[in-house]
This record gives sequence, C-alpha cells and structure tokens, in this order.
Amino acid sequence: MVYQYPVQGAGLGLRRSLCGPLSSVSPEQVQFMEVAPENWINVGGRYGAALRSYTEKFPFVMHGLSLSIGSPSGLDWDLLRSIKTFIAEHSIRCYSEHLSYCSDSGHLYDLMPIPFTEEAIDYVAERIIQIQDFLGQRIAMENVSYYAAPQQEMSEIEFLNAVLNKADCNLLLDVNNIFVNSINHRYDPYDFLKALPGERIAYGHIAGHFEEAEDLRVDTHGADVIDPVWQLLDAAYAQFGVFPTLLERDFNIPPVDELLMEVDQIRGYQRKYDKIEQGDPQSLRKPTQLEKVLEKNFRLRLSLPFNGLSLSSPHISETPKPIRRLKVSKIAVWKSIEAYFLIISKLLLPMASQSLSPSLTQNDGPQ
Ligand SMILES: [Fe+2]
Repeated sequence: MVYQYPVQGAGLGLRRSLCGPLSSVSPEQVQFMEVAPENWINVGGRYGAALRSYTEKFPFVMHGLSLSIGSPSGLDWDLLRSIKTFIAEHSIRCYSEHLSYCSDSGHLYDLMPIPFTEEAIDYVAERIIQIQDFLGQRIAMENVSYYAAPQQEMSEIEFLNAVLNKADCNLLLDVNNIFVNSINHRYDPYDFLKALPGERIAYGHIAGHFEEAEDLRVDTHGADVIDPVWQLLDAAYAQFGVFPTLLERDFNIPPVDELLMEVDQIRGYQRKYDKIEQGDPQSLRKPTQLEKVLEKNFRLRLSLPFNGLSLSSPHISETPKPIRRLKVSKIAVWKSIEAYFLIISKLLLPMASQSLSPSLTQNDGPQ
C-alpha cells in the first residue's frame, strides 16, 4: 500500500477561543488545522461562519472525542452520519479517533483504557472496519494516554499493533502520549517507537503535559512541549521520515505568538530531515549549547519562523519594544565577546609566542 499523507507540514488544533486570535495567521505559518467534530457539528451563527472561513483557508483534519470505539454499547450511527456530512461539507482530509472508550449507557467525559486482550482486539477491530466501510475511507486511531491497564494480557504496543493490523486502519501517532505512558508504565519510549508501523501513520500529535511527580505524568495539553518529547519527535522523524504533525493545546493557552513558536519548532525538526534528504551537510551539524540558547531566545522574543528572519513577519510589529531591546542587547553582548576573543587571538597570542619562541626552539625536535 502506498499511502499519501492527508496533509503536510506543521498544524495547530483550532479551538473556539482561538477563532479570533488566529484570524490573521496564514497557511505559510500553520500548514493545517484540526477540529473535534463534536464541538462544531450543527454549529451556525458567528462560530459556524468562523469555521467556514478557516476550512476554506486551511487543509483540515478531524479528531473525534466521543466515538467511543471500545464501548460495550453499540456504535453511535447518528454521530457517524453527522461526521460523514461534516467531512463532505468541510473537505476534511482525515478522521481520527482515540483507541479508548468514553461511554456505556451514558457518556463518561473521559478517555478510558480498553483492556489489552485478544477479545478486545477482535471487538474493536470489527467496529473500526464497520466505520471505515460506512465512511468509505480509512480512519486513524490514536495511541492514547492511560493510567491503569485492566485485565492486561499483552503490552500496549502489542495491543495497538494488533488492532491496526486487524482493522487495517491508520495510526495517529501522539509522541507526547508515548512519553507520558513510558513514564507512568515504566517502558522505553524509543523501543515503543521502533515497534510502530510507520507505513500506517496518517499524522502526528505533539503536546505538553503536567508533571504530577517524577514517576507520574498527566496528559493535559496545558503546558509547553518539553525537550524529551521534542527529542522523541526527532527520533520519530529519523525513523519514519517526516510526517505531518500537529500541536495540541487545550488549557493555559498562551498568546498566539507563543503557539506559533511551537508550530515553528515542529517545522524546524521537519526541515532538518528535508535537508538531510536533500544532502545538505550543514543540517547534520549539531548546534552548540550557546547557539541553542541564542536561537531559542531569538524565536521566543520575536516569534519568527524557525529557519530564518523574515522582516515581513506580522509578529514583529506585535512584539513589545522592551523585549526586542533585550534581544538586541544579548546579541550585542555576544558580538562583544566574539570581538574580544578575536583581539586576543590576533594581537596577544603572536606576542606571547614571540616571547616563548627561544625556549620552544631550544626544546624543538627529539631529545
Ligand atoms: Fe493527541
């Protein structure tokens, strides 16, 4: 099977509270967006018009909340009919859902873990097949975060791979969920990554989480992405090649400039592998610690695209002047240090070597 990704680049989840703040963002800054259909189906008026303006401007994927694929109750065919209509109305490129359940006779409003059992594999895979047949397209199931593993007969990765194979569906690869689960359930996230079927990846998620304790993380989507999760995304790109990846942020949503900075960071990792594929040797050089600090500060303060300075960026005019002065000042300090060492090397070292040369000459050669 040759699979084409439904979208490209780096994306951002569209929340109602972001409809206004993201209105001037361009597809060059955010290459695709994602919505939860349950929050938008049958929504008209101001928000309905806003959604239409976004789906006409950006490629969209859809990440469901309430399909409840592992539920003991029957599938919600009314919801699926609405989803099918929504996909057609907004040209949605991909429908993804959680490999979990959130209802029985009523909704639980949380994502519960499906038991990792043979019986559950058969049950869930059959339901996914029914949905794919109804929608006439593959759907993507997400590896979810979980905090208990009831009736566990096999590992999480064995269960996930078995469901994907049996249902012949795609994977929404959430790297933050891998990281959170690896800490909470004590496994190596890189081993988990290596065992995933890369050919089934439709797109990826990245997000921040809450550190409740050193050995307990909570998948909140309420904080910045931390470095170990970025490193895991980097490893995923190294293993599978670049796949479209979307930033999820649901709580403590920062100003748009900061959200875009994280989207740019996704693009930065993607460009790194684009360059490697194009044979650019510069892309293989690791930045020094100082370069990392300067670059991070640079992007943080000016919220510019990851790979370069664009004077036409709309964010420059939004950046408070004192912050820009701080950045300029740091560059000036660095340039001064650089100039200082240049002076040392050009002026003082030759003088020093002249004064040492007689003794060096005397000690030159084998004794
Ligand atoms: Fe996710």
